Amino acid sequence: MPNQEKRIEESEIFKNAPLEEPARQYYFIEQARELVKKQSEELGRPLTFCCVTFGCQMNARDSEKLTGILEQVGYVTSEDENADFVLYNTCTVRENANLRVYGRLGHLHSLKNKNPHMRIGLCGCMMQESHVVEKIKKSYPFVDLVFGTHNLYKFPELLTTMLLNNRMIVDIWKETDQIVEDLPADRKYPFKSGVNIMFGCNNFCSYCIVPYVRGRERSREPKAIIREIERLVADGVKEVMLLGQNVNSYGKTLEHPITFAELLEEIEKIEGLERVRFMTSHPKDLSDELIAVMAKSQKICHHLHLPLQSGSSRILKEMNRRYDQERYLNLVEKIRGAVPDISLTTDIIVGFPGETEEDFQETLKVVEQVGYDTAFTFIYSKRSGTPAASMENQVPEDVIKDRFDRLLSLVQEKGRQASSRFLGTVQEVLVEEKSRTAPGMLTGRMGQNLLVHFPGDPSLIGEMIPVRLNECKGFYYIGEKI
Ligand code: SAH
Ligand code: SF4
Ligand code: F3S
Repeated sequence: MPNQEKRIEESEIFKNAPLEEPARQYYFIEQARELVKKQSEELGRPLTFCCVTFGCQMNARDSEKLTGILEQVGYVTSEDENADFVLYNTCTVRENANLRVYGRLGHLHSLKNKNPHMRIGLCGCMMQESHVVEKIKKSYPFVDLVFGTHNLYKFPELLTTMLLNNRMIVDIWKETDQIVEDLPADRKYPFKSGVNIMFGCNNFCSYCIVPYVRGRERSREPKAIIREIERLVADGVKEVMLLGQNVNSYGKTLEHPITFAELLEEIEKIEGLERVRFMTSHPKDLSDELIAVMAKSQKICHHLHLPLQSGSSRILKEMNRRYDQERYLNLVEKIRGAVPDISLTTDIIVGFPGETEEDFQETLKVVEQVGYDTAFTFIYSKRSGTPAASMENQVPEDVIKDRFDRLLSLVQEKGRQASSRFLGTVQEVLVEEKSRTAPGMLTGRMGQNLLVHFPGDPSLIGEMIPVRLNECKGFYYIGEKI
């Protein structure tokens, strides 16, 4: 299209756009749909997309929103990155998450050289760091679209701009206090879904980049959350995972504050909803009220992800976690007292600046004592801009590696012991999929988040059924439907 004509078209499209949200984005979905339709008619085939997610559940849910929009616009999913639009939803919590993205961009470039229609988009947490965006502009000029976490809801508008232009479109916001509701979302599973209850984080743990890239804590209105879950349930969802960086502080910033425990009680009342999970619980804000609600609930799963980060009270202080070992262990005792069959999982960082062997022994002590079902262990990664990055006494790599290996073997040993405690019992499982390894077998998930493989017909996928746990294979069971 000649440049002149294109510019007229672009200004017309933008001139007619409504100003209020989400109407504006629905308008751009229509505009992008026209553009995609036109291009696919010219090519004589549908346009394909591939959205790749890095990072946490929050990013996974964001990707479902991005995918939902791409589908409405008329793109069809592609199995691999050989697609007309490839979108990377990035994470920057640890350095290796960034390195993976840069590594894969090289590969995308060679694909783009072969497919002149290919467009490449980058979004998510990494893009909120200015040094990253500078590097992309300089070293990866073949990227077509760059946007961040705060303006994700504007994706239809940004996509339209990208489709009308051949230059790199970059739109990053430093902050936002907006929450735009009611945009479309796709779901990876028909029977379960993540639901954001809050965005951002105010905790500023000294090692963590998340508050800088996700902004200040903002809770969604309870009504909007309930409405979304009711719609999901009407659409076949049985299990929801409530998402936030610190769900225990939900509601504090609302005009009419409510607690997370109160929100859970409201969600519990939704008819047809069978299971409720949540992630993540910060120990400093875990209330007795929440423990009481969990104990009496029929729907809240008996699983709590309670990140420890370190067992050393001294290191916890340096990490700005605002609890100590004693308080953490007391919490565990209280929860186990109220919900005896609860499964506890955690996150642990090894090699925080200044961590000594004695500090590390305290971490091992807590792991030994709590007996987590699973613990995600991470090697400390220096994130520029965080207070810990400028701390002295960074721990040498070989010392960290040695500690990491020792921690991992303890975590695995305790995990195996903890996970086998249900052997011989009958448990309700939500059947999730055909087993990826054993033909004829299905995979179901217990409330405690443990997996069970059992023989069964794929028509059971999405159903809640009782299964007897006959054999424990370390971290999962082999069972039979009863
Ligand atoms: N909001 C959650 C954590 C989100 S990040 C919470 O507070 O528990 C997920 C995990 O990544 C963290 O629990 C932590 O263990 C790990 N992590 C965060 N920053 C890290 C860093 N700089 N180096 C290594 N691990 C890190
Ligand atoms: Fe990071 Fe701490 Fe916020 Fe979790 S609570 S996201 S670890 S700053
Ligand atoms: Fe990563 Fe962002 Fe989640 S940095 S861990 S994707 S909030």
